[in-house]
Amino acid sequence: MMSTDRTAVVTGASSGIGLATARELARRGFHVLAGVRRQQDADRLAGENVEPVILDVTDEGQVAALADRVGNDPQGRRLGALVNNAGVPLNAPAEVIPIEEWRRHFDVNFFGHVAVARALLPALIAGGDGRLVNVSSIGGRVAFPTFGAYAAAKFALEGFSDALRREVGRLGVEVIVVEPGNVATPIWSKTMAAMDGMAAAMTPDQQARYDDLVAAVRDQAEERRGGGIRPLGVAEVIADAIEARKPRARYRVGRDAKLGAVVSGLLSDRMLDRLVARNLGLTVPRRTRREREAGTTAKTGTHIG
Ligand SMILES: NC(=O)c1ccc[n+]([C@@H]2O[C@H](COP(=O)([O-])OP(=O)(O)OC[C@H]3O[C@@H](n4cnc5c(N)ncnc54)[C@H](OP(=O)(O)O)[C@@H]3O)[C@@H](O)[C@H]2O)c1
Repeated sequence: MMSTDRTAVVTGASSGIGLATARELARRGFHVLAGVRRQQDADRLAGENVEPVILDVTDEGQVAALADRVGNDPQGRRLGALVNNAGVPLNAPAEVIPIEEWRRHFDVNFFGHVAVARALLPALIAGGDGRLVNVSSIGGRVAFPTFGAYAAAKFALEGFSDALRREVGRLGVEVIVVEPGNVATPIWSKTMAAMDGMAAAMTPDQQARYDDLVAAVRDQAEERRGGGIRPLGVAEVIADAIEARKPRARYRVGRDAKLGAVVSGLLSDRMLDRLVARNLGLTVPRRTRREREAGTTAKTGTHIG
């Protein structure tokens, strides 16, 4: 059995990027505390250098128990890394998502990460040379229609990461943001299921406003479900960043993420709006100056696909 004096915590390790990251860090010699929500996932994951811990990032008691476990390691290991990876999808037009769903989404995709970071920062700082990785997304830079809640939580995570990096860098902790593009994980099936659930709850008026948009995004999500890079590709970037002597503040993973970041930096917001609409095959109404001044919209749109 490999011996290690460093522990790494990975949240959301039951599947996808979290599972691949837990296994990759274990392979590289970390003792990994792998956060899962169900006992059956814990039983499945347990193995050499992988110790599952029951962790719902929205559960204060479980976050406190994790901090306790980290602070009282039976073999005196120090905490070397925290990977805030847990996440859920939520897709629907903004007005369709009930406000409690917005809050629930932020509880997982934003406040959950803040809670785990707060609980483990003292141990990361005490360990010296600690690494805190926040798994964001290209959606943390470019907000696509119906991804408002997801993008808002990821934008918040990006801002939190920048502030935290400037707070704790001088205390020896490197804060790193990882922004994957499309990765082949169960999140895409969950996205489709969430979209279908929300679409089914739309009122007839909302259907008239958004049916075409929801259908276009659904088609795109269906395509993405079948594509994307392997989760191991992201896990390797995370592990490399954790092991790097001087890691970068941000890593974009996948051609789509790299291209998206460059294009969004080059185009104006309006140009980006058109590109996003074109990629979805959507019709964008063009208003003449007279219509804008009169506050009306042209009945026929211009198809820019
Ligand atoms: N796949 C992509 O294309 C992609 C692209 C950019 C960014 N990301 C980000 O990558 C991260 C991992 O996603 P993934 O693609 O690997 O999806 P995934 O396979 O669905 O994994 C999500 C993980 O988060 C866990 N989770 C959900 N709610 C939780 C909670 N309240 N507390 C603790 N864990 C919770 C899930 O556990 P359960 O099994 O218990 O639900 C699962 O382990 C997410 O932050 C996601 O936003 C993914």
